[in-house]
Amino acid sequence: MAGTERPGAQEWVPPEGDLDALRAAAPGCRGCELWADATQVVFSAGGPGARLMLVGEQPGDREDREGEPFVGPAGRVLDQALEAAGIPAHDVYLTNAVKHFRFEDRGKRRIHKKPGTAHITACHPWLAAERAVVRPAVVVCLGATAARAVLGRPVKVGEVRGELLSEDGGPVLVTTHPSALLRLRGRGGWDAAFAELVADLRAAHRAAAG
Ligand code: URA
Ligand code: SF4
Repeated sequence: MAGTERPGAQEWVPPEGDLDALRAAAPGCRGCELWADATQVVFSAGGPGARLMLVGEQPGDREDREGEPFVGPAGRVLDQALEAAGIPAHDVYLTNAVKHFRFEDRGKRRIHKKPGTAHITACHPWLAAERAVVRPAVVVCLGATAARAVLGRPVKVGEVRGELLSEDGGPVLVTTHPSALLRLRGRGGWDAAFAELVADLRAAHRAAAG
């Protein structure tokens, strides 16, 4: 699926690396062209003991500058939802389907641009390696890009959200991306959408503990 200009991350992923080895190798990745315009790689947060692996889309503007996942506005929503679901930080490994920020320059602003399927495919070896090392009990996909990366097929979030899917690699639960909630802030739909996200996270955590 990856074009010839996108060799994919595989040759940069240390074959037997632990999490520290993966983190150390990720800045060198040239598996697709996204590294060139981004500030830095944004790898992951959390330790190998986490029972839940949460997968987002790609780093945003803030994450790109700080080098940490989910430290911007969507991350605040996610933190609130995790707290409301009673999920402790040590149980969560946070990462993204694509590890470099994809954006378009609009004057002084950098506008988020959705990663394409070729980027998701190119970056997948990192996600696979993380999963092999962390061995989470349940993987939670935040939104369609994460679901595409983890499931290896396109799904409609609305059709599968909240269901514990039995996949070959282990149970997977798809839910909404927290940035989708940001658009509802101060509007009627916020409470219901937030409650649904919390319920999905709680269901995943319960399954992971089970
Ligand atoms: N959105 C994501 O999908 N990931 C991040 O790390 C930040 C925002
Ligand atoms: Fe490598 Fe992924 Fe960055 Fe592309 S987005 S250069 S595959 S780490």
